[in-house]
This record gives sequence, C-alpha cells and structure tokens, in this order.
Amino acid sequence: GSHGSVGKSSRHYVPLDYTQMTDYAKAVVESVSPAPDEISMKNTTLRRITEICNNLVPGSRVIPFGSLVSGFATKGADMDLIFAHDSLDPQPFSHESNIPVRLAGEFLKRGFEVDLLIRTRVPILKIKTPGSEPGSRPGSPSAEEVLKEDLGEEPWPENISCDIGFKAHLGITNSYFFRTYSQCDPRFREMVLFVKQWSKNRDLNSPYFGTLSSYGYVLMVAHFLINVVQPPILPNLQLIPPEPDTPESELMQDGFSIWYFKDVSKITSGELLPGAKNEMELGQLLYEFFQYFTTNFNFVGEVVTIRTPGGVMYKQEKGWTSARERVGETTTYQDRYLLALEDPFEITHNVGRTCGGPGVRRIRGEMQRAAQIIRKVSTPVAPESPATAA
Ligand code: GTP
Ligand code: MG
Repeated sequence: GSHGSVGKSSRHYVPLDYTQMTDYAKAVVESVSPAPDEISMKNTTLRRITEICNNLVPGSRVIPFGSLVSGFATKGADMDLIFAHDSLDPQPFSHESNIPVRLAGEFLKRGFEVDLLIRTRVPILKIKTPGSEPGSRPGSPSAEEVLKEDLGEEPWPENISCDIGFKAHLGITNSYFFRTYSQCDPRFREMVLFVKQWSKNRDLNSPYFGTLSSYGYVLMVAHFLINVVQPPILPNLQLIPPEPDTPESELMQDGFSIWYFKDVSKITSGELLPGAKNEMELGQLLYEFFQYFTTNFNFVGEVVTIRTPGGVMYKQEKGWTSARERVGETTTYQDRYLLALEDPFEITHNVGRTCGGPGVRRIRGEMQRAAQIIRKVSTPVAPESPATAA
C-alpha cells in the first residue's frame, strides 16, 4: 500500500546527501544523552528510595519503568516508579493505613519537595530530592542539614524528580518491550532521542497542554521503523508466535495480550528480517520520518498501531471516531481521537488522546517544516550553479 514505499520514493530525482543532517542529529543525540555518572546516581537514588519504602512497608518493592528502563531517557529525565507490595492489609490506601500519605511524610521529613495527586485514577506521589539552595535565613542551618543530623543520612543528589505510582500496570511491560526493540538497532534510540528533543524545542511535548507525550513519539518512530521504511529496520516482535510452552504470565496481563518475541540475539543476527539490510543513516531516516507523517499518513482516518501487520488501522474499525467522556473514580476524562496512536498492549487506549485540534495542526505543521529544512540542507549544490562558481 501507500505506507510501505517511502524508502524507494521516486519523489526527488537528485539523490539527497544527508551527511550534514546525520552529523547534526548525532551531535544532538550525544548532547541530550545522560552521562554515566547520572545513570549511576539515579541507580543509587532508586536504591535509597526502595530502602525508605521497605522501612515503611516491609517486603515492598519499587519497580522502575518509563525511559529509565526503555533507554530513551534524556539528561535530567524524571524517574518513573511503581510502589508494589503484597501486603496483608486488604486496603492499603484506606484512611487507617494510607500508604501514599505516610510515604509522602517520609520524603517530607528528608527535605524533599512533595506533591501527592489524589484526583487521578490511582494516587501519584511526585517527589524531588532537595536542591542545593541553603536555608532561607542566612546563618541558619538548612533544612537538609537539620535532617541529616536527625536521620543520620548522606545528602541526596540534587533535584532528581520521581513519580511514584501505586498500582502495577502495563507501563512496566511496555517499557521492557521498547527496551528490547531499542536493543535491536541503535538507530531506534537515536531517532527517539532526536525526535523527543525536537518536540521539546518546538513546544510539542506537553500532554497537559494539548500536545503529545514522549511515549506517543516513541510509538510514531517505532511504527516508522517497523512498517514504513524499506527494507524494514525493526521486525514486528508481536507477530512472531510464542513457543507452545510459554507461561501464561508472558501471554496475558489485565485482559490484554502482552506476548512479544524477546530473543534479541536472533533479531540482531538478521534471522528475523531476511533480505537486504537497511543501511540508511540517521539523517535520511529522520527526513523520511517527517516526510511520511507529512504526506503519507492520514491523520483524519488512520490509527498508528504497533501490533498489527502493516501498522495502520482505520478509526472506523476501532470505533475511535468521536470524542467521548469516560468516568473515572474521581474525575471525568475526555477521550479524543484526533491523533490516534494505539498502545501496543492496552489496545483500547489512545496514547494520542491528549492532543486537541490545535495541537495536531501544530505537530503536523512542524513536521512539514522539519522535512523542508532537512531537504534544504541535504540538497547537493549542482556544479553549474552560481554558488560554486563564486
Ligand atoms: P521522558 O519522561 O520524557 O523521559 O519519557 P518516558 O519514556 O519516561 O515517557 P513518559 O514519561 O511520557 O511515560 C512514562 C511511561 O508511561 C511510558 O514509558 C509508558 O510506559 C507509560 N505509558 C502508558 N500509557 C501512557 C500514555 O498514554 N501516556 C504516557 N505519557 N505514558 C504512558
Ligand atoms: Mg518519564
């Protein structure tokens, strides 16, 4: 169909030279990648947070997910965590044993910034390690100094933000899923980091203000590398059937199919993508990515899907046609389908629901602009043109 032909596009007669774009994109990726010491500092922070949780609720665990796990973290990225426990208490969030509130207290007394969101489906505890600014009054010990004496703890690394959820969910599964994909080919992570940075620079990465989350951009890049570019750079890991003896826990979770092929060595050896290997460099891939969403993808009728052959469904087929209200436990959500990106596992969930009309129009406009700029810097100067004669 029209989706599988980008790599062979006959649109430009003069082949473009993407060297400059590739160099630029690689420099951007390098500049937003966290340094090794940031990664080890975050691991230490995770360990210390786990200790605090364990002291409060013996046997509890802290499960990381999001970009920390997928490998798509940029410098200074938040840590996404889940507090999990098999408590004997049947109602851990009840008034009597309100774990989120008590955990919030533990971080408050260590000088963290703390914000407990309770109007969400499940509570979310947002915490930030103490910064370096000293106590407000000169000469007085900082809150951190006082607390260090009280608690006998080492100072925390500064200004690390964490979101702690209280219910295990498919976000953990999809973080490992994309980690597996990113291990298949380094160009996946490079494209994601570049697109994430581009979306931030162009103010297109604010799900609370009508544009798309980082996770949404990950889905778009994955779709492109699995289904659009020719030859494909990534195989569809969800379409490779499981062995008959695969345990149920690898097949289903919360009523959704969560199977995907996990043997990275079989993928990197090329066994799963027979035929020519795609050798396109980063600059060209980014150009084709922006170009595909500018001219080939139909935002009005189509849904990006990761799991299906071809990677595209129609909004009609999914019943994703008009906005609807979904009533949660404490709030009402607007489900919108202007930009339709089906979650790879929770297939009833539109990751693009945060996008309103103006948001989608801006994203499309910026993608077109990005493609134009790349084309401009990649067009070889013809020998007879005045530019070379000068
Ligand atoms: P950064 O925080 O920007 O580094 O990116 P991230 O990869 O951590 O993504 P983000 O913070 O947007 O989302 C955190 C995780 O939540 C994702 O990795 C998914 O595993 C999970 N998730 C599941 N559904 C959604 C969704 O609809 N929106 C978002 N934002 N995240 C989702
Ligand atoms: Mg995150």
